[in-house]
Amino acid sequence: PYVLTERGVLRCEQVTYPMEERGLQFGDGVYEVVSLYNGAYIWLQEHLDRLYRSAAAIRLSVPFAPEELSERLEQLRRMNDVHEDAILYLQVTRGSFPRNHAFPTENRPNLYAYIQPMARKTDEMTHGVRAILTKDVRWEYCYIKSLNLLPNVLAKQEAVERGAFEAILHRDGVVTEGSSSNMFLVKGETVYTHPATERILNGIVRTKVKQFCADLGIPLIEKAFSVHDIAEADELFLTSTTSAIIPIIQVDDTTIGNGQPGTVTKSLQAAYQKATQ
Ligand code: PDD
Repeated sequence: PYVLTERGVLRCEQVTYPMEERGLQFGDGVYEVVSLYNGAYIWLQEHLDRLYRSAAAIRLSVPFAPEELSERLEQLRRMNDVHEDAILYLQVTRGSFPRNHAFPTENRPNLYAYIQPMARKTDEMTHGVRAILTKDVRWEYCYIKSLNLLPNVLAKQEAVERGAFEAILHRDGVVTEGSSSNMFLVKGETVYTHPATERILNGIVRTKVKQFCADLGIPLIEKAFSVHDIAEADELFLTSTTSAIIPIIQVDDTTIGNGQPGTVTKSLQAAYQKATQ
């Protein structure tokens, strides 16, 4: 396999990271995850736009200009001969320097990107999943797709240990998003989701779901819902690059709606399917 680095495309074995790498020591970097369906990038431009926004937010420069980065990622895809469903992982860090919290004086960021096979979550998409509620203990700049994922890791682990697929995060009872997904609630005909403030990551699939709702004439309101609203919800679903759109049929001990994926969720899944084929 080949890996894209700031020095160009290299063989996997040629890529090593020094001990004093700021991504490792400080989580000082940003990342993106992009789907490939049948070997084709899905919404790559949207992901790259967000990467540059995340980088700018932490005053980090991406080693390549936007057009060059897309060309290099295309080269990476070709060299790996990807034809299946896969995932691209890409991260940019502030580089390798003697350990010091403050920025290094030299601008020498590191980048790596690789592609790995990844099956679609067909079973979860069809039957729905369980979720748990847990406190959102993250910082105030969750709109940055930063490498600091410890709160997300701990929340997801709690979900796994309690037999659930995802952890729903809330701040004082207000649902923000999932540990690695955005959250949507359906009540009657209307879809609700947390507005794209600094408190959530504005997911690429989230923005697509807004568009699907507009196209299908489904009212969507960007207004946060609470943990109490969940008990009254008709449907609940999550979105992310690696999950697409997955119905949530149970939260802690509460069954959502009739315990089956709902009609609004299913029509949005169909729209997603159509948009990505
Ligand atoms: N996570 N919110 C958080 C906290 C996330 O980590 C993610 C994605 C999303 C959904 O964003 P998108 O639709 O652009 O994938 C929302 C990725 C998939 C990950 O960390 O693996």
